[in-house]
Amino acid sequence: MTTHLSSDALRVSGCRPLRGRIQIPGDKGITHRALVASAFAEGESAIKGCATGQDVRHTRSVLQELGVEIQSSGLQSISINGQGVQSFSPSQSALDCGNSGTTLRMMTGVLAASTFNSELTGDASLRSRPMGRVVDPLRLMGANIEYGEVAGNAPLLVKGSALEGSAIEISVSSGQVKSACLFAGLQAQGLTEINEPAPSRDHTERLLEALGAPIERVSKTCIRIESGSIKPFELNVPGDASSAAFLIVAALITPGSLVTIEEMGLNPLRIRYIELLKNMGAQIVVDETDERLGEPIGSVRVESSQLKGCIIEASEGIIDEIPILAVAAAFAQGETEFRQVAELKVKESDRISTLTQELGRLGVEVESGEDSLIINGGQPQPGQVSSHGDHRLALSLAVAANALTGDTVIEGWSAADVSYPDFVVDLDRLTAGQ
Ligand code: S3P
Repeated sequence: MTTHLSSDALRVSGCRPLRGRIQIPGDKGITHRALVASAFAEGESAIKGCATGQDVRHTRSVLQELGVEIQSSGLQSISINGQGVQSFSPSQSALDCGNSGTTLRMMTGVLAASTFNSELTGDASLRSRPMGRVVDPLRLMGANIEYGEVAGNAPLLVKGSALEGSAIEISVSSGQVKSACLFAGLQAQGLTEINEPAPSRDHTERLLEALGAPIERVSKTCIRIESGSIKPFELNVPGDASSAAFLIVAALITPGSLVTIEEMGLNPLRIRYIELLKNMGAQIVVDETDERLGEPIGSVRVESSQLKGCIIEASEGIIDEIPILAVAAAFAQGETEFRQVAELKVKESDRISTLTQELGRLGVEVESGEDSLIINGGQPQPGQVSSHGDHRLALSLAVAANALTGDTVIEGWSAADVSYPDFVVDLDRLTAGQ
């Protein structure tokens, strides 16, 4: 059971099993990309089942600031009258991307080829995150981008210019950076080839391919794109695999749970965490049933399970799920070691430090290193914790709290609105009557 103690503190009273079937809100990453793609297309696109969090609202409001006509028909359905990016008009003020790295990095690539200047900025967390990883490859294509007061950080001043297709080596495997380069490449003269050190999420490639863009996947880490146009489209966004991870782990660690998540996105680069949980002993059955604009979807059935610790080598494919996997590890038997997780330090909070602190406040033994996290599983205790303004930390702590007998208070709960504003509604529905 959950109780809002104030606008920013949530009390979770456990332990309550989760039972039933649920459809979770649309995928955040796919919604961002569909919004941008619909602005590139010329004509009317319709996106249903959009993600509901603040991050996606920022992509939407940034596009509107640039003159794109977007209309809502219901909470999660929108229609966009795309006129192509060449019809964008300059914004009178800085474009506010809030907490959303995907909005800021992707729009930097989109606007690099415009005919005007734009300033892209965000909240304090986003302004402290590294932007060189997206600025450097775009500069290779001829983009004219300057930093504000701090080199390497937003705000970014993007002075629109004609881009040249180039061979780009991305330094850090990143779906956001790759998407920025793809949207820039779609507007550049000639061929752009993008290479990354390891495969990152491929929603942009799947969408552009499905919409007829001149894109070729050479290998898992190499893509080519040329300037071209895309068709308007209709999309019912698959359920968000990263939001689902919170309910999946909640069901696994809360005895007596049995949950089926329906119409969930099953992109292999987003559900690696399911394989890892299965290695830890999780009873999860995935059933792929359909495809939407290149994205596989289906249902996932989860039963509470005794987990055991293991070694987890991180990759981009699970980086967002490490906070919730850390909660799974806290309830598992034995030790779980996360390796090569330095990237956690530049997420919405320094997640190596915030996870160590907050799981520690629930009585979990955590040992952190420069790029590692070792969690000694056992029986965590309820307590008072903080989100540090990080949505995935807030949601992960609420999942732990639901599995603990007693009351846990999460300060800074409103951070959850960034990706999963209805988490409490969904958790209360699945635990109602238990
Ligand atoms: C995202 C890519 C990942 C992920 C983020 C969303 C995307 O970030 O952590 O939550 O939508 O492309 P990086 O590109 O920084 O790895």
